[in-house]
Amino acid sequence: MEGKKVAKTKSCAVLPFVTFIVGFVGALVLGWWGFPKVLYSEKAQPIRFSHKIHVEDQGMDCEQCHSFREDGSYAGLPTTEQCAECHSEVMGEDPEEQKFVEEYVNQNREVGWLVYQKQPDNVYFSHIAHQDFECSECHLDVADTDTPPVFYENKLSGYSKNTMKMWQCERCHAQNGASNACYICHK
Ligand code: HEC
Ligand code: HEC
Ligand code: HEC
Ligand code: HEC
Ligand code: HEC
Repeated sequence: MEGKKVAKTKSCAVLPFVTFIVGFVGALVLGWWGFPKVLYSEKAQPIRFSHKIHVEDQGMDCEQCHSFREDGSYAGLPTTEQCAECHSEVMGEDPEEQKFVEEYVNQNREVGWLVYQKQPDNVYFSHIAHQDFECSECHLDVADTDTPPVFYENKLSGYSKNTMKMWQCERCHAQNGASNACYICHK
């Protein structure tokens, strides 16, 4: 009788602690595993474009698709017309190429490529000032990939998870003696 009573009191004292641990572990699991899943939605590029096939197998240069205009502004991504220099009609067996030709080239449409590094409108960035750096200092290293990386869209901001944060820009500016005055990056 006595013993049972003691055991009961003990478990009562332990219960809040157990509840705390369960809640605490639950919060950690939610935070580390669950929260990113809730916060980001996964998107795929409209066309599964392979850098590897074009750069390694076809021997193309980056500049053929990512070039500066004469005024120094960045042309960024290639147009469907540029791709159609080779893909005016289907040439291989890959169903993704067929899809590209039928849905974009033949219909004269631009591909809505997702830009992993896209910045908010209030941020000013120009490639010409940064041309001494490797692309992968700032970008995902897509040049070596056969399949474009998953695009994680932040559901709150609409921006990609890989968009460079302000402190990352500022850190490199500080290391290289470039200005960190607000108006440099925010016009
Ligand atoms: C200099 C010629 C050339 C240009 C320019 C070019 N491609 Fe290709 N592309 C090829 C060749 C060659 C293949 C391989 C075809 C095969 O044998 O399957 C290919 C394959 C592909 C494929 C199937 C394999 C893959 O990448 O998943 C897609 C899709 C594709 N190209 C899309 C594009 C798009 C989009 C552009 C413009 C951004 C483009 N290509 C520009 C030559 C070119
Ligand atoms: C045939 C055209 C073509 C060539 C050649 C090419 N690219 Fe691309 N690149 C694309 C297309 C199309 C995209 C958009 C889809 C994607 O991100 O995979 C892209 C996207 C990128 C991006 C991602 C930008 C972002 O943040 O979303 C980088 C970085 C890049 N390319 C670097 C390179 C480098 C480095 C080379 C040379 C080694 C190269 N590319 C050669 C067509 C090309
Ligand atoms: C110092 C950082 C940095 C370097 C180095 C860099 N980029 Fe970017 N890139 C950016 C940022 C930031 C954006 C987004 C600009 C925006 O959204 O206003 C961007 C955007 C892009 C885009 C999307 C189209 C556009 O113009 O917005 C492409 C394609 C691209 N970069 C390719 C490259 C390639 C190829 C290289 C290497 C030759 C390179 N970048 C080097 C930071 C960089
Ligand atoms: C890898 C290093 C590095 C990173 C990362 C970097 N920058 Fe820079 N940036 C520089 C350097 C170095 C200069 C000075 C270039 C010069 O004076 O020729 C510069 C200059 C600039 C300028 C002034 C030149 C102009 O075009 O007016 C702007 C604006 C700028 N950066 C914006 C940004 C933004 C926005 C980001 C982040 C999205 C960023 N930078 C990330 C190295 C970097
Ligand atoms: C080297 C470039 C650079 C400089 C210098 C810079 N910013 Fe930014 N700032 C960015 C970039 C890139 C973003 C967008 C990415 C992010 O939110 O981190 C941003 C975002 C912001 C935002 C929005 C923050 C948010 O979380 O939505 C504010 C506010 C801001 N900056 C204020 C400032 C002020 C104030 C200064 C001067 C003390 C400054 N910035 C200097 C690059 C810069």
